[in-house]
Amino acid sequence: MQTPGPDRLAVADAVVEVQDGAITAVHDRSTPEGAAAGRRALAEASERVELAPGTIVMPGLVDLHIHAPQWPQLGTGLDLPLERWLFDYTFPLEARYADLDFAAAVWDDLVPSLLAMGTTTAVYFSSNHAEATTVLAQTCARHGQRALVGRVAMDHPEGTPEWYRDATASAGVAASAASIEAIDAVGSPLVEPIITPRFTPACTDSLLEGLGELAASTGVRVQTHCSESDWHCGYALDRFGVSDPIALNRFGLLRPRTVLAHSDHLNADETVLVSQRGAGVAHCPLSNSYFANAVFGVRRALAAGLGVGLGSDIAGGARPGLLGVCQDAVTVSRMLEDGVDPALDAAERGVAESRIDTVTAFWLATAGGAAVVDLPVGLIEPGRRFDAMAVRTDRPGGAIRLWDDIDDETRAFEKVVRLATTDDISHVWVDGSSVKP
Ligand code: GUN
Ligand code: FE
Repeated sequence: MQTPGPDRLAVADAVVEVQDGAITAVHDRSTPEGAAAGRRALAEASERVELAPGTIVMPGLVDLHIHAPQWPQLGTGLDLPLERWLFDYTFPLEARYADLDFAAAVWDDLVPSLLAMGTTTAVYFSSNHAEATTVLAQTCARHGQRALVGRVAMDHPEGTPEWYRDATASAGVAASAASIEAIDAVGSPLVEPIITPRFTPACTDSLLEGLGELAASTGVRVQTHCSESDWHCGYALDRFGVSDPIALNRFGLLRPRTVLAHSDHLNADETVLVSQRGAGVAHCPLSNSYFANAVFGVRRALAAGLGVGLGSDIAGGARPGLLGVCQDAVTVSRMLEDGVDPALDAAERGVAESRIDTVTAFWLATAGGAAVVDLPVGLIEPGRRFDAMAVRTDRPGGAIRLWDDIDDETRAFEKVVRLATTDDISHVWVDGSSVKP
């Protein structure tokens, strides 16, 4: 089962041929020719994986926004607004990754945990430390997770504490450039660097400008946070005299394949600007419910042609598995559509036509996210890499049950997206290799 478009579910009984990690053919067994070709492929294959009846194969999940060093605080600390959460909880934790033993222990727990949840591609903010960031890239390579890994650049004397920042803008740019080389030197085809200014409040103009130049000269992707909360938007307007995305664009940071986390406060013109620059958004629905003061309008963004995928925003979002985040995306879209204050008339309470369903949410989590970062994953079709997961629909103790004469394929898909837990995911593959023991 997969979602080739935001409103399209495709279901097939198929044999998938994989060579050197690439999908070379998909034989649909519902036609006589497909069934025959599938039989031939199975007979000739050097290795075969046959799945039990009741097991559904889906593309692996693409999490566009994860703060790797925040893994130890997942599930805690969401009582404060973003700007205080950073200084009171998050920067002190992230500063600890100067200790490479601590970093290695966290990465070695995080990466296989996410793989087991079906996150085959992870877009990581690491910490400010180049060494710990290299170890994160090595850990992804060792466990076989496809990943974009970024050293977090941050140097602003007011937006960061003096014990957790780049000493100067030029030191920050140099450390980010060195980190790109170190990640490339890991030598894994699965792992690439990404230039990562934390967000405008944490970066001086010189750092933002220097990283924009680094992106232009290297062609390396960029990620940052954009227009996340009322405070963040107000800060940008006060400092730059223009909104956050316009400032990022002036610094050369809105580029093809740039990932802007959150961006729930983009207006219509800013949405067009981001889309025209070829950048996309990591929609983080659960995190937004705590920090963002608003719900990102997925439908409006897609209608404007903006690239959108899903992010867990570990640990601003307290749910690490992206299937759960799909459900969050559906839920918050319903709240946006209906509105939430019963004191208002129904007609004035919400934003009409905002709802998304599980098909759109799963598309965001797979093909939509893959398109934002331009990686050949997210769909099981010839030409893409085989990143996939298999989900059981009959696990004793699980909640997914398919009933004859009740559940058609559409309902089965909905049940998997809404109800599957880590235990229901029996297999995970990245680049054709099994990564879930
Ligand atoms: N803005 C700057 N840093 C962060 C972070 O770590 N998490 C979130 N959600 N927003 C941020
Ligand atoms: Fe974030």
